[in-house]
Amino acid sequence: MSTTALSREQAAAKVMVALDYPDAASAEKLLEQLQGIPCYMKVGMQLFYAAGPDFVRQLKERGYRVFLDVKMHDIPNTVKGGAGSIAKLGVDMFNVHAAGGRDMMEAAMDGVEEALAADPALPRPTVIAVTQLTSTSEEMLNDEIGIPGTVEEAVARYALLAIASGLDGVVASPHEVQLVKDTCGPSFQTVTPGIRPSGSDVGDQTRIMTPQDALRAGTDYMVIGRPITQAADPRAAIESIIEELIQA
Ligand code: C5P
Repeated sequence: MSTTALSREQAAAKVMVALDYPDAASAEKLLEQLQGIPCYMKVGMQLFYAAGPDFVRQLKERGYRVFLDVKMHDIPNTVKGGAGSIAKLGVDMFNVHAAGGRDMMEAAMDGVEEALAADPALPRPTVIAVTQLTSTSEEMLNDEIGIPGTVEEAVARYALLAIASGLDGVVASPHEVQLVKDTCGPSFQTVTPGIRPSGSDVGDQTRIMTPQDALRAGTDYMVIGRPITQAADPRAAIESIIEELIQA
């Protein structure tokens, strides 16, 4: 997929920094180091379960765009309630597991609608579905989870279910962006972890891509954690990723 050159602002807006920290104080240190860079902040389970909704509200009050990555998966009624509570926090994006099924995903959308109807000043969050976790191999999918076929087939099926349920996009591997766009159309959003700038530690990610290649593959947002958070100089690390995206 060809792309036109991004401005610095547009490039930064594509980067979602994974704030995978045990407490608010540790996350604050990184926020200070990255101050002024207009990237997204992703709050996942580790930080949310420790620092809670107050931390998320503070991020929003300070003007950050926030992706609350808590991957809800429960009965529809419970997910509806959870989605309503999340929408009231004013986050820009949150997610549910597509494996929860159509009723559950529709319930998440209903929860958002109810929250917005009660408080029209709230922003409408982008709601995305986790397709198949990038840590799942075909062997796990077939033998443990009991889903036949390839990971790609499962991803395409889940993406179709997500769009049919009214969701805005999916979390997927950067290697699956083309498949998702071909299956669901170009405006269905893709959020891709497993991003590693050339030369950085792979860690436990398997099917990785560089920021440039992910951008060329058509990803809308790239989630990047350790290559920024564990860098000796996190600000220099994100600046170099942004530069790489501008050059792509
Ligand atoms: O440090 P790293 O760049 O690997 O961080 C990736 C982030 O993306 C983590 O917060 C992880 O929870 C999240 N994620 C992922 N794979 C998925 C879904 C989310 O790595 N399939």
